[in-house]
This record gives sequence, C-alpha cells and structure tokens, in this order.
Amino acid sequence: MASFKLLYTTLTLLALLSSSTCSLGYPGFSFGWGHGGGVGGGGGVSHPVGGQRLIGLSPGFYSHSCPQANDIVLSVLERAISKDRRLAASLLRLHFHDCFVQGCDASVLLDDHPTFASEKKSIPNKNSLRGFEVIDEIKAKLEQVCPETVSCADILALAARGSTVLTGGPNWELPLGRRDSKKASLNGSNNNIPPPNSTIQNLVSFFRRQGLNEVDLVSLSGAHTLGMARCTTFKQRLYNQNGHNQPDSTLERNYYHDLKAICPKTGGDNNISPLDLASPATFDNTYFKLIMSGKGLLTSDQVLLSGNLGEPMQLVKDFADDQTLFFNHFARSMIKMGNIRPIIDNKGEVRKNCRRVN
Ligand code: HEM
Repeated sequence: MASFKLLYTTLTLLALLSSSTCSLGYPGFSFGWGHGGGVGGGGGVSHPVGGQRLIGLSPGFYSHSCPQANDIVLSVLERAISKDRRLAASLLRLHFHDCFVQGCDASVLLDDHPTFASEKKSIPNKNSLRGFEVIDEIKAKLEQVCPETVSCADILALAARGSTVLTGGPNWELPLGRRDSKKASLNGSNNNIPPPNSTIQNLVSFFRRQGLNEVDLVSLSGAHTLGMARCTTFKQRLYNQNGHNQPDSTLERNYYHDLKAICPKTGGDNNISPLDLASPATFDNTYFKLIMSGKGLLTSDQVLLSGNLGEPMQLVKDFADDQTLFFNHFARSMIKMGNIRPIIDNKGEVRKNCRRVN
C-alpha cells in the first residue's frame, strides 16, 4: 500500500510537472454564506490492485475505452450553453464544489441516501448550485456509447474545462481517471467551501487546506469572470460590512448605488447580479480589471486586492494587465484543483447514474 501511495504521488507530480504548459464559520451578518472509469484507457503506468488494473490520472485515460468522451461532453455543453449562457459558469463552479469536499469524486452530485445526506443541501450549495441536468444528459449519452466507463467525477472535470473553452478561456491537457465516491459529506460541504464574506486570511487557509496556494487562490477566483451571485451573498457589504451599519468602504461609489437597487436592505435575497459586470458570459480578465477599480462583487473578490497581502495583491494587478498570464495560471491551477484527492482504487466506482451510488 505504501509503495502504491508513493507511486501515485510520483505520478501525480509528474502529471503536474509535464502539464505546466478551506472550518472558520460564517462570521458577520446573519446570512453568513448567504444562503442559507471504468478502468481502462491508455497513458500512465498501470499496476494491479484487487485484481483490477488501476492507473493514476492521465490525459489518455479514456483514449482506448472511450475516445469520444470529450467530444460527447462538448456537444452536450454547446447545446446547453447556447440556450442558457450562465450554465458554463454553473458547471465550472460544480467542479470546484466537488473537489473541495472529500476530493474530486463527484460527491456533490449524489442525492440523499439512507446512509448519508446530500451535499446539495449544504449552506453554500442550497438554492445555488446549478447544472445538474446537464451532467445527467452527458452521463446518459456516455452510458449509451461507453457503458460504465467514464466516471461522474471526470465528467465534472471535462465539463469545467469545456465550459471554460467554450466561453473564450484557456484549454489544457486534463488528467483523467478519477472514480466516484460511494458517499457524500454534508458537513464537509458546509465546512470546506469558503464563504463570500471571507477575509483574505480565511481564503488563504481554506485553499491551503486543499493543498492550494495563494497563486491558486487568485487564479481560480478568476472563474468569477463568469456567472452570477445572489443578493444574499453580497448584502452585508452594502448595509453592514463591519457591524456598524456602514457599507464596505472598498466599494466603488457608483457600483455601490447600482448594487443597492438590485439588492435592497430587506428582501430581494434571490435577486442576482453578475460577478463580472462587464462581460459575465465571456471568460476573460475583466474580473481583475474590475477589482482594480473597486468593482469586485463579493467581499472575497475585493479582498484579493484590498486585503493587503503581498502576493495576491500583486497577482490581481498582473492578471488585470496580462490576460495571457491569467489564462496560463488558471489552467495550471485548475489541473491542481482537479488533482485534489481523487479516488483511483476500489474504494470508488463508476456510477451509472451520477445521482446515486450503484
Ligand atoms: C475564493 C473563494 C470563493 C468564494 C468565497 C466563492 C463564492 C461564490 C459565491 C457566493 C457565488 C454566488 C453563489 C450564489 O449566489 O448562489 C459564487 C459563484 C460562482 N463561483 Fe465562486 N467562490 C470562490 C471560488 C470559486 C472558484 C475556485 C471557482 C471555480 C474555479 C468559482 C466559480 C464560480 C462561478 C463560475 C460562479 C457563478 C455560478 C453561476 O452563475 O451559476 N468560485 N462563488
């Protein structure tokens, strides 16, 4: 087992190198967070475990067992995103909320089960996560073409990359071969997804807990170049940022007034506002430019700059100046995030339906 772990760690490191191209509670306002493969394929070194041949994550994992996998994912995504542009954002976020809770194992997709509660009910996820039907559609198509082969965890990773590419963002070589968990963790979801009113120190520690550093924090926050957030996730900034009934002083004045119209002091909790007001359906670096002008939507966005922590502050400036630099870092950090504790042995399975264990 020890040598198995060593081999796996080595493979993961190699994959990362060759591909170069977070419980702190929910402080503040009462709303806190705001809301409430089939073993096959080529590539990599294989070795026998429990009578099956298991392989570490590798980009070629399905190249023999399901070479069409990525094309199928992309074709479903293209149709879904053309009908609802926001789905690209929602799918990218699903992979993040999966990986931060017991690793990238598709636990986020499981519905309630007699022995565990669904992560879909957690404070960060409830009334918030979207895109489950798109994952179901991808899974159904893949089951027709290559039954019991492509895991739901890999579908989430492929859908996150596809959503990035289809909205104008970078592409990357994606290590595959994650297996699906047989349980979910509601507590894990409540405790490991950083809340939107986090300080910079909280954000760094949530990410560090997942083996991610400050560069990853800023790069991956750049995913907020896409999508929307509900009023309840930024209301505190408008009316009571520090417990003295005052707005967040880092909010640009006009933006603050616009946001108040969308997000009144009482009610309107489900009204939504773009995370990147300039181009919410295009993957670009305007998110960082907006932060530079005091127009980050969430506290957790603006503190990357205003939190006065050297490296994040500098990176926000660098990414605002240089989109290519941001894209390169985003791709690298997505690979790192996608490598958080994948299951590659018989503790996992390839679910036939992403909502339930087999
Ligand atoms: C750094 C810590 C982070 C915090 C505090 C945070 C928080 C949030 C919040 C509060 C929302 C709005 C949810 C709602 O209103 O229902 C949101 C949306 C979103 N987040 Fe994050 N997030 C973080 C990091 C990430 C990362 C790492 C990714 C992906 C790599 C990501 C991708 C997204 C996307 C794409 C949306 C828009 C989703 C949609 O429109 O459906 N976020 N995030």
